[in-house]
Amino acid sequence: MRLDRFIAKHTEHSQQTARRLIACGRVRVDAQVMRDGRQEIDRFATVQLDEQLLQQREALFFMLHKPAGYLSATCDPVHPTVLEFFAPALRPQLHIAGRLDRSTTGLLILTNDGLWSRHLTEPGQRIPKVYLVGTAEPVAEQAAQRFAQGVHLAREAVDTSPAQLQQLGPCLARLTIHEGRHHQVKRMFHAVGNRVTSLHRERMGRIELDPRLPPGQYRPLTAAEIASVTSPASRLV
Ligand code: URA
Repeated sequence: MRLDRFIAKHTEHSQQTARRLIACGRVRVDAQVMRDGRQEIDRFATVQLDEQLLQQREALFFMLHKPAGYLSATCDPVHPTVLEFFAPALRPQLHIAGRLDRSTTGLLILTNDGLWSRHLTEPGQRIPKVYLVGTAEPVAEQAAQRFAQGVHLAREAVDTSPAQLQQLGPCLARLTIHEGRHHQVKRMFHAVGNRVTSLHRERMGRIELDPRLPPGQYRPLTAAEIASVTSPASRLV
């Protein structure tokens, strides 16, 4: 529905008055002043007239079991993207909270809430991200200690924050990190002379990949999962 009609429908104003209010800069869509009454409004927009909230946008939070081969991007001319698993009407609303490499599988979270996703991904929040890692060479004995101390990443000229490594087999480990730098897990293993051959994200904070979700399927997050991201306890798990 057009914004001027939307204002008329949700207030006592006529459509003509609504157009004047819009032109005066008294209407905000998603916190931005909107002066064009022809702007289309759907259920994913927050609309305010002065300080009056006329519509709170519908919040979207999903977990996807990402299969290998899909890009964590909204569009790409060459490779299929994870957005292709979602209905066309949902796609423009969603962004990815913590990208995965094309070959990486597992838990991918998509939302339309930018503040919430920043909370989940900002290194300062220290929300753990847990990965199952397959390696080309047996994991070196000193790797756990190196990861706990922090590995130097030359490109950013930073040390990774302390990470926990749990050895599960000669070439299989579980790694918990608290940041999400570009190719971070692969670069950490490279720094200890190894190579990642498979990578699967199992968990972010308290949100675990639902074992009932086959690759390529998604489900909405539960209220408890959504709330867990902004609760201080999510940093500790
Ligand atoms: N670290 C990586 O190297 N790749 C991912 O996809 C996620 C974390």
